[in-house]
Amino acid sequence: MCKVIVIANQKGGVGKTTTSINLGVGLARLGQRVLLVDGDPQGHLTLGLGFPKNLRVTLKNMMENIVMGIEFDPREAILHHKEGVDVIPSNKLLTGMDLSLIAVEDREQVLKEYLDLLKADYDYIIIDGMPSLGMLTINEMTAADSVLIPTQPQYYASDGLTELLKVYKATKTRFNPKMEIEGILYTMDVSRYNNSKRNKKAIEAAYGNELRIFNDSIPRLEPISEAASEGVSIFTYEKNGKGAESYQKLAQEVLNHAKEK
Ligand SMILES: Nc1ncnc2c1ncn2[C@@H]1O[C@H](COP(=O)(O)OP(=O)(O)OP(=O)(O)O)[C@@H](O)[C@H]1O
Ligand SMILES: [Mg+2]
Repeated sequence: MCKVIVIANQKGGVGKTTTSINLGVGLARLGQRVLLVDGDPQGHLTLGLGFPKNLRVTLKNMMENIVMGIEFDPREAILHHKEGVDVIPSNKLLTGMDLSLIAVEDREQVLKEYLDLLKADYDYIIIDGMPSLGMLTINEMTAADSVLIPTQPQYYASDGLTELLKVYKATKTRFNPKMEIEGILYTMDVSRYNNSKRNKKAIEAAYGNELRIFNDSIPRLEPISEAASEGVSIFTYEKNGKGAESYQKLAQEVLNHAKEK
């Protein structure tokens, strides 16, 4: 059965895209069939995997086909990455989607309807969410089985999580009662700093009872950032480093969650 995970946090620059790419490739390395969906008009997932920004067929066209109710090939947008994952790209043309969905009936279901057409071919579909809480994010949550929340262990992180969880709860109640929180993942962690430890404790005190927090955090490491500019995951860029190790552990933990069920 296919599991859909959206990587969400409306705060910018917390590691959503980096986590989408490296969790996706990490799962592929564990033998899973993975589709990565670029759900952000910034197109960073598309670019970070080395694809160009002016692609003709993207997620936007696929969602428009659903809205218009026309017959189409749902695989037309799919690209293949050399590290063994498939990708549905996006670019800035997706920007208008939030507005154009307003007039559509069942507007929160459009992405779900599209991804349902692809589920038979994959074990995991990972959606790289955009840094906002608009209609596209609600579409992403409506399509998802679970939400993975990357966050830096910073002082204000807790405030942002409250907003995100409000949208999560509202979407779950109205459109997707089976959705769960996959977990909170600390990213760009510099755990030798005391304030990182203190801020993790604050997040754990506020949410630890309610939400799962992943065992291992992702450290802040230059190679993790550099890999994206080469269009590859950390597994290709620095196979035996700490970054690859931490993302492989994350992939294993995500796989273990699914097996617990
Ligand atoms: N573990 C890490 N170590 C060092 N740099 C990192 C790490 N994770 C992410 N980065 C860098 O931090 C920046 C933000 O990461 P990323 O693009 O993944 O965040 P994002 O949440 O997707 O951002 P946005 O909200 O704009 O979509 C990027 O330059 C990325 O390369
Ligand atoms: Mg991003």
